[in-house]
Amino acid sequence: MIKKNQTLGEFIIENQAEFAYSSGELSRLINSIRLAAKVVNHEVNKAGLVDITGAAGETNVQGEDQQKLDVYANEKFIQTLTNREIVCGIASEEMEDFITIAGQNGDHKNKYVVLMDPLDGSSNIDVNVSVGTIFSIYRRVSPIGTPVQLEDFLQPGNKQVAAGYIVYGTSTMLVYTTGHGVNGFTLNPALGSWYLSHPNMQYPEDGRIYSVNEGNYVHFPQGVKNYIKYCQEEKEDRPYTSRYIGSLVSDFHRNMIKGGIYFYPTSSKAPDGKLRLLYECNPMAFIAEQAGGKASDGFNRILDIDPKELHQRVPFFCGSKNMVLKAEEFMAKDP
Ligand code: AHG
Ligand code: MN
Ligand code: MN
Ligand code: MN
Repeated sequence: MIKKNQTLGEFIIENQAEFAYSSGELSRLINSIRLAAKVVNHEVNKAGLVDITGAAGETNVQGEDQQKLDVYANEKFIQTLTNREIVCGIASEEMEDFITIAGQNGDHKNKYVVLMDPLDGSSNIDVNVSVGTIFSIYRRVSPIGTPVQLEDFLQPGNKQVAAGYIVYGTSTMLVYTTGHGVNGFTLNPALGSWYLSHPNMQYPEDGRIYSVNEGNYVHFPQGVKNYIKYCQEEKEDRPYTSRYIGSLVSDFHRNMIKGGIYFYPTSSKAPDGKLRLLYECNPMAFIAEQAGGKASDGFNRILDIDPKELHQRVPFFCGSKNMVLKAEEFMAKDP
């Protein structure tokens, strides 16, 4: 039974029977993520005080300037996910290749792979605006006992066993699903404990917020331009409200609570869109669907896409079910 304000530890123990695999495995996975989240949260919170804002001086495989906190968060999550005899490999937005993790005695018996966006919205760090972390977890498909393979990471999103995000906002929250609904926990920073503050989160079926980087308008496909005009039209419950933070995690979180749609379409500048299928779209799509929302590339379900490469990008339309259906109607007419 879900009890508001119980701790994350209590929640995991009471609900672990729902996890399709061994319950101890789920606890160990979530434990390492909640620990890393606290460490990163601590660092994000003092970002203005210590020398951790600004660029790290390197460019990542995405062609983006890495921020110091991108690198820090990546390292902290890797450290905490290693050494727990549970994760056999990690892929990250910030690393060109996946890393292989052996068990303590050098074997390859660990069963899960983690894919992550260690710091989402990193352009917002220097201006004190919310950032996040996104994670996605699969059970490996290659034989246990052998080192993890690329195919373990290139599974369609519908094979995820868990996914979640942390939003480092006015308060810090961990929101995750193991395929049995979505629950949100808020960190009490004085105690270092997470409390169930948002049980059984639900995406409202309809919404009145649209979130898109409208500066790219001229580069968007006609269907997207028409949908934006539809959002702005004075008719029925429109015009909608426009809200765009520029951190997917924060934009998603707000829309899931209030009702809305987030979209990052293709454009003449970014023919595949910008967001990364494995680190951003799949985990958010899993959470959205588990909360009764919908996630699409404008035409098809995100979770059914067969990934071809680690850093693959896709157009992304995600949010309240009826809003995404409406956007898809516009896309079908003018792709
Ligand atoms: P990241 O900081 O992990 O690279 O992700 C940035 C993403 C996403 O969080 C956000 O919604 C989007 O990029 C913003 O892009 P624009 O600045 O092009 O709007
Ligand atoms: Mn980035
Ligand atoms: Mn991101
Ligand atoms: Mn990132």
